[in-house]
Amino acid sequence: MRSIETLDELFLKVFMFNPCPMAISNIDDGKYIAVNDALLYILGYNKEDVIGKTSLELGIMDNSDRKKAIRLMKSQGRLRDFEILIRCKNNKPIHGIFNAEFITIQGQPYLLSVMTDITVKKQLEQDFIYLEKLNLISQMSAGISHEIRNPMTTVRGFLQFFMQKPAYAYHRNYFELMISELDRVNAIISDFLSITTSDPLNSAYTLQDLQELLEQLRPIIEANALEKRNRMLYCLANTPKIMINEKEIQQIILNLVRNGFDSMPVGGTLIIKTFLQENHVVLAIQDQGKGIDKAILQKLGTPFLTTKDYGTGLGLAVCYGIAHRHRAKINVTTSPQGTTFEVHFPLAQSDE
Ligand SMILES: Nc1ncnc2c1ncn2[C@@H]1O[C@H](COP(=O)(O)OP(=O)(O)OP(=O)(O)O)[C@@H](O)[C@H]1O
Ligand SMILES: [Mg+2]
Repeated sequence: MRSIETLDELFLKVFMFNPCPMAISNIDDGKYIAVNDALLYILGYNKEDVIGKTSLELGIMDNSDRKKAIRLMKSQGRLRDFEILIRCKNNKPIHGIFNAEFITIQGQPYLLSVMTDITVKKQLEQDFIYLEKLNLISQMSAGISHEIRNPMTTVRGFLQFFMQKPAYAYHRNYFELMISELDRVNAIISDFLSITTSDPLNSAYTLQDLQELLEQLRPIIEANALEKRNRMLYCLANTPKIMINEKEIQQIILNLVRNGFDSMPVGGTLIIKTFLQENHVVLAIQDQGKGIDKAILQKLGTPFLTTKDYGTGLGLAVCYGIAHRHRAKINVTTSPQGTTFEVHFPLAQSDE
């Protein structure tokens, strides 16, 4: 392996002190022979962790992305604006755009790759799209409350009134069915309204321990696992208390857990983790299902989006709404081996 010290001095300066994360790797085995400080900083590694290893060994890049990049390099002789998700040492995802060229150092060909970190841009784009969606849902909620819920209450009242009349005793079953259908619609409307507003009876925020909350929910989650003939595993770290609305966070957990169980075949394991990452307390729910199709992934959180026969498609919309009220972010990573939903809660400020 050729060492970085043999590189031309000017090139070495441009490479090492470049603010863009850069790497030089072997063409045949993909091992890093040199990485600059910007790349080490962004990935959270030391130079010794990286040199002589491949991006795959370090878990930085997904195997399918790496194969695709190699295919493009072979067919086009370079890599242009190749956008992928990479993983830092602490497992944090980063959206990067990669450009790469073949270079020759002392007669030997190598690969020079340069990354642009677009994580913040991506996040802002997603936040903007979500806020637009939330604004529309808010406007619809006001209309639904008045124009649909109020007439439904009147209809339900009359049905109950006529159901008691001896003249309709023979049709009582139909009246009961109509009332229960109206109640079902009403429950769906309540879920829809809860995307943008908290339940006024349960809107208090208190300092809570996520681990304690998950322990309270353990019997319900275990019962869900049993019903689906799946397993569940808790990996809970001691994390600082966070300011939350307990009822709403219970709902996020149960909605994500149910989606996880729904996605898995019999015998799958659902892992529920809590950990501290930078200045966030993270709740991660990881399943071993088939993953989420790209077309669905882009629209997650849209009300009434469902691929299930008996789903309403409100579970995630409600989760995103609750997360927004908690200034929390939901990250999704998915592959054909499974999906992980991470909810990142900000640490409580001392004055909260
Ligand atoms: N863990 C997961 N694995 C695979 N697909 C998922 C997962 N979570 C969500 N999805 C996809 O996203 C869609 C929307 O999920 P969401 O929870 O909002 O609605 P739902 O589960 O279909 O219905 P419900 O209102 O009962 O929750 C699901 O139908 C499914 O296609
Ligand atoms: Mg659901």
